[in-house]
Amino acid sequence: MNTEKVQIFDTTLRDGEQVPGCKLNANQKLVIAQRLDDLGVDIIEAGFPISSPGDFKSVEEISKIVKNAVVCGLTRSVQKDIDVAAEALKNAVRPRIHTGIGTSDSHIIHKFNTTREKIIERGVAAVKHAKSYVEDVEFYAEDAGRTDNEYLAQVCEAMIKAGATVLNIPDTTGYCLPEEYGAKIKYLKENVTGIHKAVISCHCHNDLGLATANSIAGVINGARQIECTINGIGERAGNTSLEEVVMIMRQHPNLNLDTGINSKLLYSTSQMVSDSMGMPVQPNKAIVGANAFAHSSGIHQDGVIKNRETYEIIDPYEVGVTESAIVLTARSGRAALAYRAKNIGFELTKDQLDVVYQEFLRYADVRKEVLDEDIPKIIEACNI
Ligand code: KIV
Ligand code: ZN
Repeated sequence: MNTEKVQIFDTTLRDGEQVPGCKLNANQKLVIAQRLDDLGVDIIEAGFPISSPGDFKSVEEISKIVKNAVVCGLTRSVQKDIDVAAEALKNAVRPRIHTGIGTSDSHIIHKFNTTREKIIERGVAAVKHAKSYVEDVEFYAEDAGRTDNEYLAQVCEAMIKAGATVLNIPDTTGYCLPEEYGAKIKYLKENVTGIHKAVISCHCHNDLGLATANSIAGVINGARQIECTINGIGERAGNTSLEEVVMIMRQHPNLNLDTGINSKLLYSTSQMVSDSMGMPVQPNKAIVGANAFAHSSGIHQDGVIKNRETYEIIDPYEVGVTESAIVLTARSGRAALAYRAKNIGFELTKDQLDVVYQEFLRYADVRKEVLDEDIPKIIEACNI
């Protein structure tokens, strides 16, 4: 079976930048956009041009430097938003306007105080207006996760007729279960006339920690674009993490899905975004966290030293991490101590190791971690 491509739509600079206190300046945004282009993302959502003069300028400048990826600007279903986005994107080699409106009853009643029919009319008008500027128009049905599937299918059908090339099905509140979100995508694939003319996109939030699982359920059921951010940053509990979905598809070739991402740049890109935003990556974060390839318990260390794959499903080199780490703590065993001692030039015999290990345990019990520089001191204290 041929591997099918899933497009990666990076929204680090738009949804990701909505994290309170993590605002980027214009130059930082340009540097990150360039890096995202090098990483091989298919679409860069550069900002929400009407939201502020600063965001307009960033989208405009990013449009000038990005050579490969599509550059996208967000709008509401409002003519003026679309005019401003089109202006900001005018220098992009491949511009996309991302417009849309809330489609759940909660949005329709409480946010817009209108009807389902009027929401479709507003969406159609927005798509047609965007289409007068650019060929590539993506429509988002905000809160699609809580939108009734039958109505959502009507919305999608109307937007395809109006010219939308991508249909974004956001789980805006991170509410869906993976099975439910996957079934929603399947329902649209099977019930929307003309669906073959548009790419279905997953845009999942992480309020219940399910953003990655939901996005993967989406592509398994026929979506071919995932909207995500580096380190999974974004509103509230964040968005789908780019590095996670990319590596899930790569580690599971039986899905027959892949992206064009250069995974060897994942770790350094994660660090770049974290440093620019002043937002540390949690140590246990999958793929890019400091502990993602660190082993500290004796049983695991012994296994990894004998064969890395015993406890690692990803070669750290594949995501740009230099090597797996064998961390020495009071939970480590002799194999780990011997391994680290050898790395810095101490070949211990079995008898020597028995003695040094007892001293090591006394030392490790009062420290969080034993470092390379501590090892000679421990050996010296054993008088061997
Ligand atoms: O979460 C969401 O619904 C969004 C849309 C604006 C695409 O970010
Ligand atoms: Zn979002």
